[in-house]
Amino acid sequence: MIKHIGTNSIETTRLILRRFRPEDTFDMYKNWASDKETLRYLPWGPHSDVNVTHRRILSWVENYKQPNVYNWAIYLKSNKQVIGSISVEISNDKEKSCEVGYCIGRSFWGREIVPEALRAVMHYLFFEVGYKTIFAKHDVENTASGRVMQKVGMHYEKTFYDVGRRRDGSLYDVDMYVKYYNVSEKES
Ligand SMILES: CC(C)(COP(=O)(O)OP(=O)(O)OC[C@H]1O[C@@H](n2cnc3c(N)ncnc32)[C@H](O)[C@@H]1OP(=O)(O)O)[C@@H](O)C(=O)NCCC(=O)NCCS
Repeated sequence: MIKHIGTNSIETTRLILRRFRPEDTFDMYKNWASDKETLRYLPWGPHSDVNVTHRRILSWVENYKQPNVYNWAIYLKSNKQVIGSISVEISNDKEKSCEVGYCIGRSFWGREIVPEALRAVMHYLFFEVGYKTIFAKHDVENTASGRVMQKVGMHYEKTFYDVGRRRDGSLYDVDMYVKYYNVSEKES
């Protein structure tokens, strides 16, 4: 059974994953929402100004009223900033499956921060919420995201061709990865 418990805080060695707050606006705008390169493979483009980011965060805060919303700010303890987000993007309660997505600002790439966050989030979704299958997808050109999936023990499942258009108009394919519930990982 899926038991929706909403977005509760999770602490890891370097990170606190927690709900977004209105005061995260500046960090979000500066660290990723205004950077074209960071957002290259995401469906949304850079925010034109900080007010757009503020409105986005306010809508996320409102969404937390629903217990089936999982949307964490990635707070890096060492610099006391919110540097990205990790969330459940699609949930299928009947199948007990969900799809996750993530993003951190370019200055923080290459330090295995997202693998650390994703491991913790998968643990929460499997063992606290009750999902049995977690998917993630990436544009085939975004091999860095595929590396994150591999590092956390997800397995390549299949490629979907011409699934949509990038913001530059080009068609793109996605690789899908999956991880299944494994009770032996509960204590790890
Ligand atoms: C993809 C992403 C999540 C990786 O997160 P991360 O915390 O940097 O993960 P890692 O440190 O484990 O690095 C993963 C891969 O990123 C690539 N990478 C690392 N540092 C990099 C840098 N400075 N510039 C470009 N790519 C880099 C490498 O391919 C690395 O794999 P490797 O360790 O085998 O060399 C992060 O780059 C990101 O948020 N990108 C923008 C948003 C995005 O594309 N999200 C995924 C949508 S599907």
